[in-house]
Amino acid sequence: MVRQMKINGKRLLDNLYALREFTDTPGKGVTRFSYGEQDVNARRYILDIAERLGCSISIDALQNIRLGFKGNVPGRKTIAAGSHIDTVRNGGWLDGIYGVCGALEVMETLTENLADYDYNYEVVIFAEEEGSGFGSTMTGSKFISGIYDESDLDKLKNDEGKTLREVLAPLQTRCCCDVRENPYRQVQPKEAGVSTQCGESSVDISRVMWDFDTVKTMLELHIEQGPVLDEAGLSIGIVDNIFGMRVIEVKLDGVGNHAGATPMSQRHDALCTAAECILKAEEIVRADEDKRTVVTTGKIEAAPNCSNVIPETVTFTLEVRDRDEAKINKAMDEITGSIRDIADRRRVSCTIEEHSKSSPLPLNRRLIDSMAARAEGQGLPYKVMDSGAVHDACMIAAHVDTGMIFVPSIEGRSHVPQENTAEEHLLTGAQFLMDTVLSELASGK
Ligand code: GLV
Ligand code: MN
Ligand code: MN
Repeated sequence: MVRQMKINGKRLLDNLYALREFTDTPGKGVTRFSYGEQDVNARRYILDIAERLGCSISIDALQNIRLGFKGNVPGRKTIAAGSHIDTVRNGGWLDGIYGVCGALEVMETLTENLADYDYNYEVVIFAEEEGSGFGSTMTGSKFISGIYDESDLDKLKNDEGKTLREVLAPLQTRCCCDVRENPYRQVQPKEAGVSTQCGESSVDISRVMWDFDTVKTMLELHIEQGPVLDEAGLSIGIVDNIFGMRVIEVKLDGVGNHAGATPMSQRHDALCTAAECILKAEEIVRADEDKRTVVTTGKIEAAPNCSNVIPETVTFTLEVRDRDEAKINKAMDEITGSIRDIADRRRVSCTIEEHSKSSPLPLNRRLIDSMAARAEGQGLPYKVMDSGAVHDACMIAAHVDTGMIFVPSIEGRSHVPQENTAEEHLLTGAQFLMDTVLSELASGK
């Protein structure tokens, strides 16, 4: 029989309110990039809780964290729950961290009600999910699932031109100090207790990829980030498909010149070219019949960026998302063809680089059905729905049974400071995660 346990709602909300203070932009949303100072603060806060709960702590070379329930038995498969703690610039207070705090609240509740289960339980915190630092979403989980390998440590670069390897190298310490002093300390389960010198600098990713035979289920609790649940007055979303995405980076090289003395007929303005390309991409995607495909340019840089100089170079990102990979590819082909034509016509040179991609993914049918039955049984208003946002769960879903639970985002706002969810829904979602974890823990070997 599956046990019932009630989470402590106040404790969950207290953690969320405390963690929202770890931001580089107080008063202007939460800005907490992976490997930065606020990431350290958030990690320290969470690792303190894990230590108090007697969890095993394992941190890999990418700085993904796994926290093991103190009642776990070696050799049993794991039910994992979690999400990420990094944010976009000036983002919201719930994206990612809600799923981590929800999973941690499950850990607290299990620890208060120690019992023997068929499976182990772990909280997972994925690093660099947003791609705020290195421009590629789900970086930590891409390494965990083997999509990224050694060579990507050198390919992925941040805005300062530093490679991921260079950023990770100083964090590769297995020194004897505790996690409060060094929240990036790596402790692999096999070598816990072994102390080596501080300041190791080689980035060894050989043990980052999970042994998926040891994991039975992955669950991610998340805010919806779109308007569907809020508009329909529902309290739970059960995700059946996660959109795929492709991101390109376009570099346009025009001719810089004087903004007053250069006639309009003699200009090769990189920013006007970019503007035409971006609007053309919007036009192409708006023509989509089922109105599901989306296109976004969220990052653009113009140089020299002076009001009285015709922009000489412009670099911008462009991403296309849909639940159908063929449609993503078709839209992207049409967009890149148009960008090249527009640049040619304006005699501006153009390079297009594929930046990152992930395929659309259906989540596990067994979990969708069992969560839908649970919501039905509890009388919770729910919907089985797509996720337009990508999540670390997609990277794990290719290997193990993976499920996602959504709660409503007020007015569908996310990735902005206004991101919010009613407390009542935050509590309902976390309790629903608790119930789902308990059912998985007792689901027989
Ligand atoms: C992550 O939040 C994404 O969907 O970009
Ligand atoms: Mn997220
Ligand atoms: Mn996000």
